[in-house]
Amino acid sequence: MEGPVEIVLDDGTVARSDRFVVAMCTCRRSRTYPWCDTSHRPRARAAAPNPEEGTAS
Ligand code: FES
Repeated sequence: MEGPVEIVLDDGTVARSDRFVVAMCTCRRSRTYPWCDTSHRPRARAAAPNPEEGTAS
């Protein structure tokens, strides 16, 4: 959404963002809740299995 914006949370707390564009977090994983910090994105796997290993005999 376009900022600046104020959001009233369930507990009555008001969160304010002065950013030009801001996204609200709906997954609750954000470290900057109620603002999205992209923590919702799945993490890349550390290492994909190598298809050329393991089955040769
Ligand atoms: S929607 Fe929760 S971090 Fe993006």
